[in-house]
Amino acid sequence: MLHYLILLLFVAPVFSDADKKPNFVIVLTDDQDVVMDGMTPMKNVERFIGSEGITFTNSYVTSPICCPSRASLLTGLYVHNHMTKNNSLSGGCYGSDWRLKEHRVFANALQNAGYDTFYAGKYLNQYGVKGAGGPDIVPPGWSEWHGLVGNSVYYNYVMSNNGVPTHLTDRYLTDVIRDLSISYIENQTESQPFLMVLAPPAPHQPFTPAPRHKGFYKNTTTVKHPNFNIADNDKHWLIKMPPAPLPESLLPELDHVFRSRWESLLAVDEMVADVVGALEDIGQLDNTYLIYTSDNGYHIGQFAQVYDKRQPYESDIKVPLIIRGPGLGKNISDPQPVLNIDLAPTILKLAGVDAIEMDGKAIDLDVKQVIEERYMLVEYYGEGRDGSVDPKCPWKYDSDNLAQCYPAYECKCQDARNNTFACLRHIAQRLSMKYCVFDDHKIWFQNFAELYDLSEDPYELNNIIEEEFQAIIVWYNNYLSKLLKCKGTANCDNPMS
Ligand SMILES: *[C@@H]1O[C@H](CO)[C@@H](O)[C@H](O)[C@H]1NC(C)=O
Ligand SMILES: *[C@@H]1O[C@H](CO)[C@@H](O)[C@H](O)[C@H]1NC(C)=O
Ligand SMILES: *[C@@H]1O[C@H](CO)[C@@H](O)[C@H](O)[C@H]1NC(C)=O
Ligand SMILES: *[C@@H]1O[C@H](CO)[C@@H](O)[C@H](O)[C@H]1NC(C)=O
Ligand SMILES: *[C@@H]1O[C@H](CO)[C@@H](O)[C@H](O)[C@H]1NC(C)=O
Repeated sequence: MLHYLILLLFVAPVFSDADKKPNFVIVLTDDQDVVMDGMTPMKNVERFIGSEGITFTNSYVTSPICCPSRASLLTGLYVHNHMTKNNSLSGGCYGSDWRLKEHRVFANALQNAGYDTFYAGKYLNQYGVKGAGGPDIVPPGWSEWHGLVGNSVYYNYVMSNNGVPTHLTDRYLTDVIRDLSISYIENQTESQPFLMVLAPPAPHQPFTPAPRHKGFYKNTTTVKHPNFNIADNDKHWLIKMPPAPLPESLLPELDHVFRSRWESLLAVDEMVADVVGALEDIGQLDNTYLIYTSDNGYHIGQFAQVYDKRQPYESDIKVPLIIRGPGLGKNISDPQPVLNIDLAPTILKLAGVDAIEMDGKAIDLDVKQVIEERYMLVEYYGEGRDGSVDPKCPWKYDSDNLAQCYPAYECKCQDARNNTFACLRHIAQRLSMKYCVFDDHKIWFQNFAELYDLSEDPYELNNIIEEEFQAIIVWYNNYLSKLLKCKGTANCDNPMS
């Protein structure tokens, strides 16, 4: 009996430690790129997550736009399976179809497994608007809900606090998210594991820094890679629309946007340091996976575009992804190809929770010597809006198909209904290719395509579709059409089998 007791005394704490499930904290920024050095302002992220964990250098999103990409991250599904195709209600962005599927958001599985779950900040762009049921709705899966109504802004917004809409006029949203997060962490009891998603607006338009950070990067100008502000004639017609290159007079505005984005990120970086500190204070830092990522990338001036996302190039589809947590290596750079749909299955696996059907696959967090070959799918449905072309712009002939053409930017259009494309991003050891097909066939009876060899042409200057062997193009085309119909982890990982 005495033996048994002593054994219990010594063994019990060890068992309870091992049984304690890990916590998860995801920081999801809005439009943060890696290609234009978008991580430069994130010194705390680098110090507390990057140098303590793994930085994924080939991390991509399933769609270069907020709502479809967020729906993918939340469900682990490709766009053709969750069907949130654009940022409008009619395109599935918090529309009625999405709400029927919302129980597939991975937070539900964690909650069912005993996790307490917390969300603060931007969710899907149309969450909380009238046509989507209003801000009284608390999406399923969240025990503690602080969802922003509508799209990213920095001031003057409505936040749904557990279904109670609260209008805040002059409190900087990132700081509000930080304060809620700290308070939530301080309230945690030791016994229950938790999931937190922190979704600040930065660095999304209107790029508003916190007052304390204004002017921090006042001398910074846009990154000018070889594809900056060049007319490139082998690309889809939208990219070739005039003016290309952009006139010199526009460049100061691009610089202004560039530095404002960086300044708006400084409050996010402070938030990360404070969250890490709070986790440490409650003794949970070593039992927590911290994941830092963004919903899509961004371009400023690439191929003479103004500033936006919605294009198939690396600037727009590549995102930061950094993970630290129990058992992971420190200060590691990992080139394995990964997608935003991999995060939900990765988290469920780390939590020891049964998988629900997803298209992504759990990331192998052991560092490997060789890159494992992978074909990843990117889907984008071009947006167009009747009457969205400013009347001062000269594009009268097809204005219903175009979008975001403003006189302030020389009427350079950012999107069009037929800027609809699907890309295959093919990465292996010493191989890095991208094959994209545009949906322009209704007029031309053939699809316009772009093919890049990124191992030789990292800035996507040369569309080699005319030069590549026909057999390779046929293979890519075949693979792409299979991936566009894939369903489930195994099938999406190997649709040709
Ligand atoms: C933490 O607990 C306090 C006291 O009960 C409460 O007022 C506060 O709202 C809680 N914080 C969060 C984020 O739930
Ligand atoms: C920014 O530029 C101004 C004028 O060119 C210069 O005086 C100042 O020292 C620069 N500031 C920084 C932080 O580099
Ligand atoms: C992390 O690795 C980089 C490059 O490998 C190195 O320069 C840096 O000093 C390391 N940082 C830490 C905190 O070990
Ligand atoms: C979004 O998608 C829906 C459904 O395909 C479409 O009706 C709507 O026009 C799209 N929205 C925009 C702004 O293009
Ligand atoms: C695509 O849009 C362009 C410009 O608006 C137009 O000329 C072309 O007819 C459109 N093609 C299709 C298939 O809609």
